Amino acid sequence: MQKNSTIFLFVICLYTAFAVAADRQETEQQRQERMKWWTEARFGMFIHWGLYAMPARHEWVKNRERIPDEDYQIYFDLFHPDLYNPEQWAKAAKNAGMKYFVVTAKHHEGFCLWDSKYTDYKVTNTPYGKDLLKPMVEAFRAEGLKVGFYYSLIDWHHPEYPVDRIHPMRDNKEFRQNAKDRDVKKYAEYLHSQVRELLTDFGTINCLFLDYSFPGEDGKGHDDWQSEKLLAMVRELQPNVIVNDRLDLLDTPGGWDFRTPEQFMPRSWITVNDIKVPWETCQTFSGSWGYYRDENTWKSVHQLVVMLIETVSKGGNLLLNVGPTGRGTFDQRAMDRLQGMGEWIKYHDRSIYGCTQAPEEFQKPDNCLLTYNLGLNRLYIHVLEWPFKSLHLDGYAGKVKYAQLLNDASEIRFAEKRGAWMAKERGYAEETLTLQLPVNPPDVTVPVIELFLK
Ligand code: GLC
Repeated sequence: MQKNSTIFLFVICLYTAFAVAADRQETEQQRQERMKWWTEARFGMFIHWGLYAMPARHEWVKNRERIPDEDYQIYFDLFHPDLYNPEQWAKAAKNAGMKYFVVTAKHHEGFCLWDSKYTDYKVTNTPYGKDLLKPMVEAFRAEGLKVGFYYSLIDWHHPEYPVDRIHPMRDNKEFRQNAKDRDVKKYAEYLHSQVRELLTDFGTINCLFLDYSFPGEDGKGHDDWQSEKLLAMVRELQPNVIVNDRLDLLDTPGGWDFRTPEQFMPRSWITVNDIKVPWETCQTFSGSWGYYRDENTWKSVHQLVVMLIETVSKGGNLLLNVGPTGRGTFDQRAMDRLQGMGEWIKYHDRSIYGCTQAPEEFQKPDNCLLTYNLGLNRLYIHVLEWPFKSLHLDGYAGKVKYAQLLNDASEIRFAEKRGAWMAKERGYAEETLTLQLPVNPPDVTVPVIELFLK
């Protein structure tokens, strides 16, 4: 009897433990629910800010120019962003149409924008002397934006971070020799403590962008970061947080929430094992993430608006980066672009937020990009090159109730299945719906036609 009840108890314990563990395993539906706000938001602001704003020649300047700590120290000793006004930043992001932001709490250089307990290499020890992160989080939250932190797994300042193939001191034999006993476990402890701090002291954190792994010879991957343990802690501290894919856990179930292509436009919706997955592309205004004074390949407002549309047309999110200056401002080039995008989005919000790739039955016409709003059952045709009077939509006949320009809700009449003089030459066909466009396009960056589907 005694034995039986012990076994019984054991089985109960086992069952409960299993149930608890299983409970943590999210179903696909729960995952979609957790990511719903993010999928609908479609557009966010990335902010890369750190000491590298001062040399103003790329956030990798320490690596590229192999700058030793002693020489990099000057930026720390003089860091003083006296014009920093996070309320202005938050307003600029909101007016541009962005729904969330992600800021580099620490980038590869190791400098921390908050008053971390675990290091002296932080903003509160610079001439500026105050925490930068809390006021930023508060300002963006006050504008209704969701909050995300970027935290660099890589650290080019920490004394226990082993030198590797991308470390600024990789070619310095003496430095390498002196650093040979560095213990990545001790570094991992620091990294875990800091992530814990970021996820504990700033209220609800909606996104976390951990950057990045480069496994293989002289590199670092999930064993170095102790990624599984780190992610478990993250999920425990902030159960609803949305996490990127750079922990080197691509094959681990639940090891990431979205894929992160950067600096190129994917050909189509990103898939893993042929299944469409959530994705967010992060992009720069010019070629650099950190403020780069002399970089001149700035994209135009038109290019950026098209980038946003194209991303959404393939089911993705756009995280568009600003690199604030060493004075703490968004420079004019960034402000102009944010404002230009905001002007467009003010009249075209319905074709972006809550939208995704169009159902397959709707093929995109030449020089157009399509998005689809499931909630409204409307299709949006973004016309990149305005055609002369007729826009032919093959396969659309019989499927459209009403059509209008989105910017001013003015009707666009259309013809279907029509016999007419030179009908074939005009492009009329059984399955074709032809929009009858005005000769002049509306005066907006990219005109959008809204189709109310039957
Ligand atoms: C790369 C770069 C980094 C930038 C990031 C943005 O990982 O190392 O400088 O922060 O991309 O995704």
